[in-house]
Amino acid sequence: MNTALPPQKLEALLVEDVAQLVLAPPAKASVFLTVTVNPGKESEAVEALGDVPGLKRGVGFRVPENDLSCVVGIGSDAWDRMYTGARPDQLHPFPVIGSGSRVAVATPGDLLFHIRATRFDMCFSLAQHLLERFGDAVTPVDETHGFRSWDERDLLGFVDGTENPERFEAVASAFIPQGPWRGGSYVVTQKYLHDLDKWNATSVEEQENVIGRSKLSDIEQPDGVQRSNSHVGANQLFAEDGSQLQIVRDNLPFGNASAKEFGTYFIGYANDPRVTEHMLEQMFIGKPEGNYDLILDFSTAVTGNLYFVPPADFLENPEEFTTPAS
Ligand code: HEM
Repeated sequence: MNTALPPQKLEALLVEDVAQLVLAPPAKASVFLTVTVNPGKESEAVEALGDVPGLKRGVGFRVPENDLSCVVGIGSDAWDRMYTGARPDQLHPFPVIGSGSRVAVATPGDLLFHIRATRFDMCFSLAQHLLERFGDAVTPVDETHGFRSWDERDLLGFVDGTENPERFEAVASAFIPQGPWRGGSYVVTQKYLHDLDKWNATSVEEQENVIGRSKLSDIEQPDGVQRSNSHVGANQLFAEDGSQLQIVRDNLPFGNASAKEFGTYFIGYANDPRVTEHMLEQMFIGKPEGNYDLILDFSTAVTGNLYFVPPADFLENPEEFTTPAS
């Protein structure tokens, strides 16, 4: 019996080797750190990006079993200020999607550091070292501390991440398969605040209709029961050939109990940002228009960004891919 993988599949799987560590087990703890690059400090920021892998190794290697990782994303405006050569085809500013009270807002953000580990202290320590290294080249605009809640649940009480693609499908969904940016990815981040008073006043049955899955067992509602404007229903997306278009998510809850400010930090990686943007259109505008995602009756996006996640080698050797601004 010939058990060898077909060459195209093998080639596709090898993409992961040149990528940053996008595909990691669901994080137990995260720091989502967003900064802007200060005017005139672009080349300093390029230099500092080259030190990110070393800083990650310095913090992470001492306790390797805690799986510290840091994925770096670069926003469209920052890219044009930091590099003058080749640029990724689909990198653009995050588009504002929706209208009225349901808007996926676009907010400032030049660089994203998606820091993950099984222990929060390691994430925090790496964030400290990163900010020290970048110094006055950047201004932090958002730092969200995400924590794993119970059995992978969001603060709405539902298990989040179940239908993430796995193995080959995850690789194919997340990474640019070929060309000069092979192994690159695009990541969308949004910080959502939840109205938990309103949510908790809603019956469990109605909550399940909002999400499209059972709350306790996490089993998907059957056809005929699941609503097209449930969160799961709104996020079904298909290519022209009928195949499902997917993204790789690693959302985490965050919160401040006394300030009653809490929510979900959404993070979704895709080989083409238009996949995630299309999902957002279906959520915020609806398919058909007006049939918007019911989760938005309880959740408000307060940030929104799109970044290119370059292949791993880019950080230390950007000149092999493009021309760093001098
Ligand atoms: C308010 C913030 C959000 C919360 C609390 C949330 C929570 C959830 C939950 C509980 C599920 C079901 C279990 C699972 O498969 O993971 C789910 C599924 C999903 N979510 Fe979200 N999510 C949020 C935002 C988003 C956004 C902004 C997108 C896309 C842009 C998105 C895309 C998806 C997709 C693709 C699925 C899987 C659908 C399927 O079953 O095929 N989510 N989410």
